[in-house]
Formats: sequence, C-alpha cells, structure tokens
Amino acid sequence: MTTAAETPTQVFTLNINGVDHDFAEDLDLLVVLRERLGIKSAKDGCNQGACGTCMVLVDGKVVRACTQRTKRLVGKKIITIEGFEQREKELFEYSFAKHGATQCGFCIPGMVVSAKGLVDAKPEPTRDEVKFAIRTNICRCTGYQQIEDAILDYAEMKRTGAPIPAPTTAGGIGTNLHRVDSYAKTLGTAEYVDDIEVEGLIHGRNVFSPCARALIKGIDTSEAEKMPGVVRILTASDIPGSRYIGHLAKDWPGMIAVGEETKMKGDSVALVIAETLDQALAAADAVKIDYDELPPLNTPEEALAEGAHLIHGEGYKQFGRWIEPTSNVFDHEVVKRGDVEAGFAKCVHFAEASWDLPPQEHAFMETEAAIGIPQGDDGIMVISGGQGIYDEYHEVSDYLGIPMDKVRIRSAWVGGGFGGKEDMSVQHQAALAAFLVKRPVKVKFDRTDSLNYHPKRHAMKIDIKLGCDADGILHAMQAKVVSDTGAYGSLGGPVLQRACTHLGGPYNYTNVDIVGDAVYTNNPPAGAFRGFGVTQSAAAIEPLLNELARKVGIDAFEIRYRNAIRPGLELPNGQIVGDDAALVETLDAVKDAYYAYAADPSVHVGIACGLKNAGVGVGLKDPGRCDLAVVDGKVEVRSSAAGIGQGVATVVVQMAAESTGLSVDKLVYTMPDTTYSPNAGTTTASRQTVFTGQAARIAGLQLKADLDAGASLDDLNGKIYHGEFDAETDPITSDKPNPVSHISYAYGTQLVVISAETGEMLKIIAAHDSGTIINPPAAEGQVVGGIAMGIGYALTENFTYTNGVPDQKLAQLGLVKANQMPPVETIFVNRGTYDDPAYGAKGIGEIVCCLVAPAAQEAYYLFDGEWRTKLPLEGTFYRPKKNR
Ligand code: FES
Repeated sequence: MTTAAETPTQVFTLNINGVDHDFAEDLDLLVVLRERLGIKSAKDGCNQGACGTCMVLVDGKVVRACTQRTKRLVGKKIITIEGFEQREKELFEYSFAKHGATQCGFCIPGMVVSAKGLVDAKPEPTRDEVKFAIRTNICRCTGYQQIEDAILDYAEMKRTGAPIPAPTTAGGIGTNLHRVDSYAKTLGTAEYVDDIEVEGLIHGRNVFSPCARALIKGIDTSEAEKMPGVVRILTASDIPGSRYIGHLAKDWPGMIAVGEETKMKGDSVALVIAETLDQALAAADAVKIDYDELPPLNTPEEALAEGAHLIHGEGYKQFGRWIEPTSNVFDHEVVKRGDVEAGFAKCVHFAEASWDLPPQEHAFMETEAAIGIPQGDDGIMVISGGQGIYDEYHEVSDYLGIPMDKVRIRSAWVGGGFGGKEDMSVQHQAALAAFLVKRPVKVKFDRTDSLNYHPKRHAMKIDIKLGCDADGILHAMQAKVVSDTGAYGSLGGPVLQRACTHLGGPYNYTNVDIVGDAVYTNNPPAGAFRGFGVTQSAAAIEPLLNELARKVGIDAFEIRYRNAIRPGLELPNGQIVGDDAALVETLDAVKDAYYAYAADPSVHVGIACGLKNAGVGVGLKDPGRCDLAVVDGKVEVRSSAAGIGQGVATVVVQMAAESTGLSVDKLVYTMPDTTYSPNAGTTTASRQTVFTGQAARIAGLQLKADLDAGASLDDLNGKIYHGEFDAETDPITSDKPNPVSHISYAYGTQLVVISAETGEMLKIIAAHDSGTIINPPAAEGQVVGGIAMGIGYALTENFTYTNGVPDQKLAQLGLVKANQMPPVETIFVNRGTYDDPAYGAKGIGEIVCCLVAPAAQEAYYLFDGEWRTKLPLEGTFYRPKKNR
C-alpha cells in the first residue's frame, strides 16, 4: 500500500507547438496557453465554450481551449497559430488582408485555426464546407462573407503553391490598401488589453449587486480580507474624487455605498484586489452583503405608473447642473414641424402601428478590460479598450480627484464596440485600484459581467401614424416614442433624439409631430448601439409605407421612389439636404432586381430605405483631429480616434497618403495615447471617417506644401502638422426654418429576398450611398457585418430580462452564425466630390444595420399575410439551417 507521502506527484505533459511542457495541476487549456505559456493567439471571449475565439488544434481536430483540461490532453499534439508553418502564416495574413476579412480581429485567430483544420482535412473546400467549419466561430463584425472568401483563397493558394503578391504601397483613397492592423490581428499578435503583460500585475474583481434593486445595509469584508493573496478590498468610501461617472449625466456611481439602493444587477458594491485572479474571485465570493431585495421597475410602464419609486430620486449632475427628478423620465424630446393636422387633411390613406422593439446586446467578442499602472506617487496610466480615450481621461481624473496632467490613457486594440464601449466600464476601477495600492491592476469583466453591465440597444415602443394622398405622396406623420433607458442615462438622451429626428425617414414631407420619452428602469442601461435610435425608427416607419402603397395601389418600390429625398428637398426634420444626397441612386441601383424578384413566384422581396447622420451635429462641438509628425524619415499618423474594428486607423493613413502623396511605407500609424494623440472625440455617430479623416487631410496638405517647396522628410524631422475639422450645425432647438442638424447623411436601400416556400432568407442586396469609398474591402465589410447584425435584430436575437437580469448567456443570444448568413450583394453609389470634407466620404457603419428588419418584415408579410409589429419577427418561417 502506498502512503500519501509516497504518492508520486502527478505531472501532465502537454505537447504544444512541438514542445513538451509539464504541469503539476489539472488546468484549463486556455489558462495554460495564455497565462502559463504566454500564447496569446487563443483569445478569451467567453470562457463558456460559446464563441470560438480560443480555438486550437488537438491532434488535428479543432477544439475550444476553454473546454479542455490538461489531464485529458496528455499524449496529444496541440497546435496554436504560433506553431503553424511560416508559409501558412503568410498565406493567412495575405488572404485575410486581401479580402478585408479582419475588422476588430478578436475572432480572427480562432477562425484561422478552424480554417487550417478544415483545409488540412479538405484541401479543396466548397463555400458551404467553409461555412460549416466556422459555424461555431462567432464573428460580430464581418458577417462572415469576406472571411469565407479569405479561407477559400488560402486553400487555393496553399494547394497550388501560388506565390504571395507583395502588398501595395500606394494607399490613397479608393485603393484596396491592406488594413494597417490586419496581419497582426490575423495571427493573434495584435494586443488587446487582456494580452498585455505588465510586470507585477495583480487583479481586481467586482462584488456585484445581489439583484437589480437592493437596499445595501452592510458590507462585511473582514473574512475576505484574510484570504490568501488579498491585497485590499475597496468600497465606495475609498473613491477619492467624484463617485459618479457618466459622459453626459453623472448619475452612475462607481460603487454603491451602504445605505443606498443598487439600481441594476451590474452595480458594483466592492472591488477586491488580489495577487491572482483566482484569489480575487474567491475573496469576492466571501464578501458578505447585508441587503434587502426590493421590487425592481421592469418596464417604462411600471416606471411611469403612479407611485413608482424614483430610481434617481437623490438627484445627479448633468452639464454642471444639479437635476432633481420628479419622475422616472430621463429625457423628453419633441420634433414638431409644419402642421400635422393640415397635413393629415390632405391625406386619403393612413397607416398606423404600435411597435414593440426589443433591447439588443452588442456581444462584442472582447469583454471589457483595463489595466491601471501607477505613475509615480500621484499619477496613473490606464490601458483601455474603449471608444474614446479622452472621455476616459476626463472621467478618470474626476474619479480619482487628480488633475488631468496626472492621468494618461493609452488604447490597446479594441475587440469590437458597436457603441457598447462608449461608457466607462472597468477603466475607472482599474485606475482606482492601481492608484490606491500603487501596483499595476487589471480589471476584466467575464461574459456574464459584460452582459449585466454595459448599455444595450434601447427597447422602444413606438406608436406611429403616417398619411398620404391618392398618389401615394406623404404629407404627415405623428408618433410617440417611449424608450427603456435602464438604470443609468448613458447616451439615452441623444439616442432618443436621433430616433425622433430620423423617424420621418428619408422622405420629402414636412408635417411631423413626434414626442419621445426615455425612461429609467432597473434594467441594464441602454445607450449607444450601431444605428443609435435609427434602427428603431426605420423599423417603425418603413413598413407603414408598404401599407400605404397597398392602399394606393402602387408597389413598395414606387411609393419610396415618389417620396425619396432628393438634393435641395426638405427632410421631415427640416434639414434641406445637399447635393451629396443619393437615396434615389440607391433605389435605381436595386430597381431591376426588385421588379425581377417581385415577379418571381418562388420568392418574396421586401424593401426598406433609410438615412443616418454622420457626426454628432445639432450645434455641438464635434472636432476630429489628426497630427502628422515627421520622425526619422517617416511620418507618424497620430489621432485618438478609437479603432473598434471599423477601420479608422487605415482610413487616416489613406487620407494622409492621398493628401501628402507619400507612399504608405512612409506612414506609421500610432496607437491612441493622450500623451501624443490629439483629441479626435469619441468613435460614435459614424463620424470618424468624415471628421478625423478630413483632419488627416488638412494636416497632410500642410506637409505636402513643405514637401512641394523642396523640403525632404529628413529636413522636416521633428515637425508636427496639426489637422482639425469641425462642422457648423444648428442646435435641435434652433428656430431657423431649415436648421442644419448634421453635416451629412448616409442613405441606403436594401432588399431582403426569401423563399416563398420555406421563408429561408436567400439573399440581401444592399445599395448604399456613403459618399466616396476610402477602402472598398473595408467598406464592404461594414455593409455585410451590419447586415448580419440587422438579421439578428430582425429574426434571431431575442434579448430579454427577468427582474432586471439578462435571461441569456452568450450562446443563447441568437447571434447569427456563418451557416445562417445569406449571400449579400453590396452596391455603392456616390454623389460626393473630391472637394467635399473627407474627399466626399460619409459614415457607413450605422445605416447598414438599420434596414434589414423593416425589409424582412415586408418579405414575411408577403410570405404568410401576418403583419408583425414586434421584433424579432416570429413565425414558422425561420429555421436556422445546420449547413447551407
Ligand atoms: Fe470577428 Fe470582430 S472581426 S468579432
């Protein structure tokens, strides 16, 4: 018999990328790869076996590292991208860059592993086989089409031994320049916050509210403080500066204090700091919260009911003013123009609906993470993955109560945002922890934390009535909008305002009466999300045009064509659109296809049009900035514009190349950092290509003037050229007859084609006016990716809460998978000119996801005659296919 003392220590030997490694514990493979061996190509997107960002090959089979334990892997061969042959790496770099297949990039290494697994087994795969192979790799950015193209190209080049063409160095506007971040993101070497190694790094872990609404009566940290590895446990009283965060309304406490109520499940009550993450997790579990659970307000109806408790009854600051709410209405918007009664009097046909539109989860693949690093005794640096380092700069300074010159924010690559990383999440927490314990601290949300915490797309109820005359010409619209803005204000005001200013659609009529309320509830907050209120307004108005068309006796295309906004005409929000407005051209681009499908009995076709502003506008300061700095014979392109996957890093390089005439090998993109990057504002409102792009052009033209005067880059060493661009717009309260709310609008028309037999979505045709296209593959990626998100909103995603807590995990969100995506045909039209700001480019990121839901609503009405006023559309028609 063997005694315990004599039992040999079990050793698990894993062969990883051809090298044996011994481990004395049975560990998750993902922990082994990322934390023990520093292999960062396997990303931690969910740790729930749901996203595919951690794919590796085990004996040639594609598996998720987060579901594997070391003891089951002994004797097997594990390969990560780091262990691929050099030519395989180069082929993946090239094919993914060529097709613009990499956006935020967080999912891409997992895709690459799945692709290698497929091609090693099937050297000549079909597109359907590629779709099947990557069906468990979730990509929230791309819509998969270009990833499939890249994998097919990789397979062919690998099979044929084709040489890899040298990348172009010509990078002006309109060229297919490989994205500046593509190669590193493809092979997994681009660093997101969680990939960054910092000497002496320790970990912070939140103790979250036990329920959506709890009265906190006590916080007992005594036992937790004695646990191994615990450095310190912070509570609200440890915050040295202003406890309340929020870019606009300062209504969001960084931690809830004893005696206060929590307002949502994602509220933090304490922050445990420990040597390791496991120690922080264990100690967080040991913090005892004494609380009374209180009934949450689950809907705006409950929150507006007589006697409902005031969620922010204690008041908050907004734009320097103290607000003392007397109801749960956070924001009220009114858009009234013309005379609605007189307009309706001209109408003979009316369409009305009450829409019920759900919240939507961003589901970016990288969850929120930040690292705080002390700078001397009284300063702090934060490495962030947010959407605006200067917003964080101000907020961290306020939170810590230190001057801004003691704060530095640096951005890592951002693994998707879509608006969900505009607000503070973990940046202030990492800053606080590191500032107080004087050690580098990482705070990272796991997937559940992320779902509970960050603002969502607003659920909205929209009552709307639209009228037209006997010829189908629109004359008036009346609407009431109520949005659920959740526990905190976030961007709830501007989102409601955009929903109201865009609710009239891209049409020429001038009598509108729209009122909207954004209402606090105890749900997770709602804020910015791609489309920014326009996703909801397009879903509400577009189907009404189809109803009116049926009453008039014309088709859905014709009613849009008759009413479409044209240059020089007035939108329902009062703005007279410029010569750049090309909605009619988008309709012309799909006309033949629309009528061909409409005449084909085997299919049904739905159509929707839309518009989306570029830039914040409405009279607010909104400058984009970019500096070009000459350093050692090259030109550094410096801007704080956050690259969240949309490709602004490449756009500013292309703008600089175009304006200076320099080849791109002379241009060096630098990551956003408040120490040298000028403030380009937040990545929001489809604004960066226009505003920061034009700023890059302005700086480039100054540099070009010096070059044209005979100076060389060596002569100019050390010189910095500043570019800044803003647009004059009018406030929403302007009494001008035709206020200019925004510098420009992007327009689009989309067709959704479904099978008349099964309802399967067969094809989407997307014609978009986004002005001059700066990088065609990147622009196409925005279209297809936005459509994938739109399909989710229309059909597959059904995000719900029970008592303020999200009901779904990542795997249950209904995110569209590769084998569920129909083919997307993208068409660009353009009326912009070279002399316009940003060479005529307009925003594209948002409009693309706003039109699928209304077009699908019409297609499925034609399918079964049911006129649905609730999303996601429900019916027997939707059957996700296992494989296309
Ligand atoms: Fe796939 Fe962003 S590129 S998740």
